[in-house]
Amino acid sequence: MPNFQLAGKRVVLAVTGSIAAYKAIGLLRLLTQSGATVHVVMTESATQFVAPLTFEVLSGLPVTCDLFSGHQDMKHLSLTKQADLLLVAPCTSNTLARLALGLADDVLGTMALTVQCPLMICPAMDGEMWSHPTVQAHAETLRNRGAIMIEPEIGELASGQWGQGRLAHEDTILTAVEAVLHPQRDWQGERVLISAGPTQEPIDPVRFFSNGSSGKMGYALAEAAIYRGAEVVLVSGPTKLMCPQGVMRVPVITADEMLQALTARFNWATTLIMAAAVGDFRPKLVLSQKLKKEQWTDEMLLLERTPDILLRLSAQRTHQRMIGFAAETENLIEHGKAKLKSKQLDMVVVNQVGGDHSAFGNDFNEVILLTPNVAPHPISRMPKRQLADILLDHIMTLPLPSSAVQTVSSPTS
Ligand code: CTP
Repeated sequence: MPNFQLAGKRVVLAVTGSIAAYKAIGLLRLLTQSGATVHVVMTESATQFVAPLTFEVLSGLPVTCDLFSGHQDMKHLSLTKQADLLLVAPCTSNTLARLALGLADDVLGTMALTVQCPLMICPAMDGEMWSHPTVQAHAETLRNRGAIMIEPEIGELASGQWGQGRLAHEDTILTAVEAVLHPQRDWQGERVLISAGPTQEPIDPVRFFSNGSSGKMGYALAEAAIYRGAEVVLVSGPTKLMCPQGVMRVPVITADEMLQALTARFNWATTLIMAAAVGDFRPKLVLSQKLKKEQWTDEMLLLERTPDILLRLSAQRTHQRMIGFAAETENLIEHGKAKLKSKQLDMVVVNQVGGDHSAFGNDFNEVILLTPNVAPHPISRMPKRQLADILLDHIMTLPLPSSAVQTVSSPTS
């Protein structure tokens, strides 16, 4: 649903000659739906992939392709003077190098040198090219000059190979654009510790216990918090997700490792958001060699409890807001309230798992917020990234636990 966040904003969308140029069409639609006026600029090679007419029709504005034809008004200069953002998407390795070196023999190169607004670059290329030291050096040069680099994603590439090089998802780019053009820095000064994803408990070197959590909710929260000005540490179980720019990720596997990583940073944090789906059980015995079928006995799967991380941290709490999640299949409010009380939390975000609308792995979620002495607050189904911002709005209003400061930090208590 359009939110008109970009109403009144002028974006110059520069499309370069990558196979991902067709994705710029979807991006243009999102930007205009969000209310932006978008002027498209294309390099010559981009026009080999998509006809300028496509962008012209969708943007409702002429497309600028070269420096010389019909632009006596020095359009490349006036465009960048009026623009609120110069967005290069997709950006090839060639354009990345040209921008880093300041070459100005085409319209984009010239614009980039006269730009007074932020420059956002969304690279798209083969994985080996992206990881090449030369390309990385150019990206670093541009970052150091203040460009915002939206890292390419990992996935299947045009070559058929797997790697990091796919243009970032259009929603990711739109969110970054909205964050740059509407910086809502209300979380500045906050230090947010977030856990995300599943944990894995090994049975032997090749098998493990785990669950179906994708980590998407925790990662969405991390991205929302960093965009809103917080410092963010993301303690993450195994996931396939990219770490949001600016977030410090601490990878962990088991519940014990997650406990250690969170405990080490708990004093630093002003808010803990425990979005991870921590496994509750682990094998009593972890085998050092792969278990053969013939060796199997029922005793091999004797289980023991993993530590309840939230419970332990809430016993050590001094100044932190503490938010837990509750993954439930039934009696959502009843079970959520029990967790709010037993883990002494400031808020529990209850979501349904299992069934058609399971929160696990889904890009969407609907939740119920539970806070002490307040009626349950349901939030309807929406993308997790959008929900993340709403959760941060609510968390911001939670009172700081001053009573916890006295009871826990006092040496005599
Ligand atoms: N949690 C935790 N440590 C665990 C298990 C859960 O810190 N060993 C946290 C989760 O990250 C979540 C909250 O506790 O924020 C509730 O987790 P959930 O899996 O819903 O409930 P459990 O406490 O594990 O209880 P149950 O499985 O019996 O519902």
